[in-house]
Amino acid sequence: MKDSEPVGVAIVGLGNWGRNHVRTLMNLKECRVRWIHDISPQAVEAQLALYPSLAATDSLGLILNDPEVRAVVIASSARSHYEIARAALLAGKDVFIEKPMTLRLTEAEEICRLAREGGRQDGARQDGARIVQVGHLFLHHPSVQYVKKLIEAGELGEVYYIYSQRLNLGVVRNDENSLWSLAPHDISLTDYLLGGEPESLKATGGCYLQTGIEDVIFLTLTYPGGRLAHIHVSWLDPHKIRRLTIVGSRKMVVFDDMETTEKIRIYDKGISRLNYENYGESLSIRTGDIHIPSVPNTEPLKLQMQHFIACVRERRRPLVGAEEGMAVVRTLTLAGCELGGMGATGHAGI
Ligand SMILES: NC(=O)c1ccc[n+]([C@@H]2O[C@H](COP(=O)([O-])OP(=O)(O)OC[C@H]3O[C@@H](n4cnc5c(N)ncnc54)[C@H](O)[C@@H]3O)[C@@H](O)[C@H]2O)c1
Repeated sequence: MKDSEPVGVAIVGLGNWGRNHVRTLMNLKECRVRWIHDISPQAVEAQLALYPSLAATDSLGLILNDPEVRAVVIASSARSHYEIARAALLAGKDVFIEKPMTLRLTEAEEICRLAREGGRQDGARQDGARIVQVGHLFLHHPSVQYVKKLIEAGELGEVYYIYSQRLNLGVVRNDENSLWSLAPHDISLTDYLLGGEPESLKATGGCYLQTGIEDVIFLTLTYPGGRLAHIHVSWLDPHKIRRLTIVGSRKMVVFDDMETTEKIRIYDKGISRLNYENYGESLSIRTGDIHIPSVPNTEPLKLQMQHFIACVRERRRPLVGAEEGMAVVRTLTLAGCELGGMGATGHAGI
């Protein structure tokens, strides 16, 4: 492929979220949407009404056999991710998979293996590994990137703990619990900001509206070095909150995604340990300024998909690859096992 040529992509899954992928990819000059596909004719019709120039097919096979399709963007229901991603990798395509990457850890492991081996089951693919990117959108959020840089630069000192809240009244699902519906975002964020996977976890949840489907989850993750992350997700709450608080030894940061512009506040606050030679140690509270940095307001979905297309073109490892997606599935699975209810997959009938 020439450097200047747009990357041919197909979009599978045109529901509430998939239509955002259509809009975003239609506006990226770096790619060309060759096909759209959904098992629901209504979902396809709705996109064709908006973008009459698009080509639609009800055959996934046709898409996978089209040599002009370099990459498949999978935004279908979570339970279908594995089958579609597996078929696309076996056909030699690069894939973008919405979160959660799969519903079972064994499936995630297989996607990782197929990506590493270049898709072909006999491992005989000519041009190496496939690109797999997972849709943990918030890692592409300019505010999250800003906070990550603060941590890496040591501005916060040692990060002690993080807590996040993702709460609202609705959308109540009947085929998945609030853990699998909402927490993938927060788990991917805490993994990213703390630089790895948790060593252990505790999860509790409550089913109030429907039998066996948790409406609210409290998940506590322990990362290496005793660093804690606490994740509270719920679709049964009076407040709409999307907030992440990071407490470090030098400074503290709040990322509030409900704010339209001032999403980050850096608190120059902390507790210092003073060392008096004669009087032993003492703790002193320090309250300094609150800084609100100016962070660009670029749409994370656009940044995420530009990154994917660049990785496909340059054969680069994505920020959120298959391994990172699998780590989130592992945490969700372990938390789901603790909860009981819908079991490890958090989905009805799986
Ligand atoms: N990154 C984010 O912030 C974000 C936000 C919302 C949803 N999502 C994820 O996006 C995915 C889709 O969510 P949604 O809210 O659009 O769901 P949805 O139910 O609105 O849409 C799913 C679509 O997938 C189609 N579909 C199901 N199985 C299919 C198959 N085998 N082949 C082709 N099409 C198939 C359905 O017909 C439907 O149109 C989920 O994985 C969800 O977790 C991500």
